[in-house]
Amino acid sequence: MNYGFWGKLNKPFTVLAPMANVTDWAFRQIIIQTGRPDVFYTEFVSCDGICALGPEKFRGELYFEKNERPIVAQFFTADPEKLKRCVEMAVKMGFDGVDINMGCPDRSIEKQGAGAALIKNPKLARALIKAAKQVAGSLPISVKTRLGYNKIETESWIPHLVEEGIAALVVHGRTRKEMSSVPAHWDEMGKIAEMAKPVGTLVVGNGDIKDMAEARQKASEYKLDGIMIGRGIFNNPWFFNENIKPDSIRPKDKIKLMLQHCDNFSKLWKGEDKTTVKNFDTLKRFFKIYINDWPGAKDLRAQLMDSKSIDEAKALVLGYLKSNS
Ligand SMILES: Cc1cc2nc3c(=O)[nH]c(=O)nc-3n(C[C@H](O)[C@H](O)[C@H](O)COP(=O)(O)O)c2cc1C
Repeated sequence: MNYGFWGKLNKPFTVLAPMANVTDWAFRQIIIQTGRPDVFYTEFVSCDGICALGPEKFRGELYFEKNERPIVAQFFTADPEKLKRCVEMAVKMGFDGVDINMGCPDRSIEKQGAGAALIKNPKLARALIKAAKQVAGSLPISVKTRLGYNKIETESWIPHLVEEGIAALVVHGRTRKEMSSVPAHWDEMGKIAEMAKPVGTLVVGNGDIKDMAEARQKASEYKLDGIMIGRGIFNNPWFFNENIKPDSIRPKDKIKLMLQHCDNFSKLWKGEDKTTVKNFDTLKRFFKIYINDWPGAKDLRAQLMDSKSIDEAKALVLGYLKSNS
């Protein structure tokens, strides 16, 4: 088995989940400052998009720096040949691993036969893994998926993936139908760990983890190699840093992060060449993360949600800092 970097991690390891419009370089650099996970992912990127428009159009999504290693590029597609081209590109770009998305419930992605639609098409799912492995060289291949499509299908779906000899399998403990509306079925994770054992695929559990203590408890209870954290980081950007207690974080610490994030965002998405630009509204999700939990935060946040540009948002928080220091 080619484990690549996955084989060198201390267990249980932590992974920041791929999240579209969230886990770009701008945000990952913030998390490096607050306290990093063992592994980073990019947000997912369309192989069909890369093959049609060229990788330059996805410069922002794919950009990373050395201090983010190990970092995995996540792709979605239903076309093994396009996946091959993107894996070759990821090798050249110096990514540490490639992950194939087999869990996204977005209709536009499923329409292409990609994301969660692959749960209904194990033959194609297997062909995608085979294609990726053919060209990956020393780069490890992983898959991120769900427990099933309309119902839990652990026993019939998961073996298709582990039998292909992937280095790691990340399982979001819900079905496609459940989206994110019910608590994750962690009891299925133990079964998956057992299924993966004979092949040696590492199993990473994902879904609803609130803090590091819970991450460790779930890994131990279900004998998992690692835990992936998504929305938990929204509640606490210091999630991975157990030396920082959430109630010791001051409003100005959060505001500082927000200002830094704004600068990172401007740098990444409005580069000199202007090949890739992201709408300012994408940044508003983060205002909710940074500006909360203190008297006055609600009003400031409301003003930020009405702001029209990064400069306006920055001026608002700087003004707030000045009048509250
Ligand atoms: C805003 C957002 C964007 C997401 N984008 C992706 C993505 O690009 N690729 C992916 O595999 N999963 C994506 N997910 C799913 C997460 O990776 C994760 O599986 C899910 O949020 C459950 O974990 P959590 O309960 O820790 O958040 C996304 C989730 C959110 C909330």
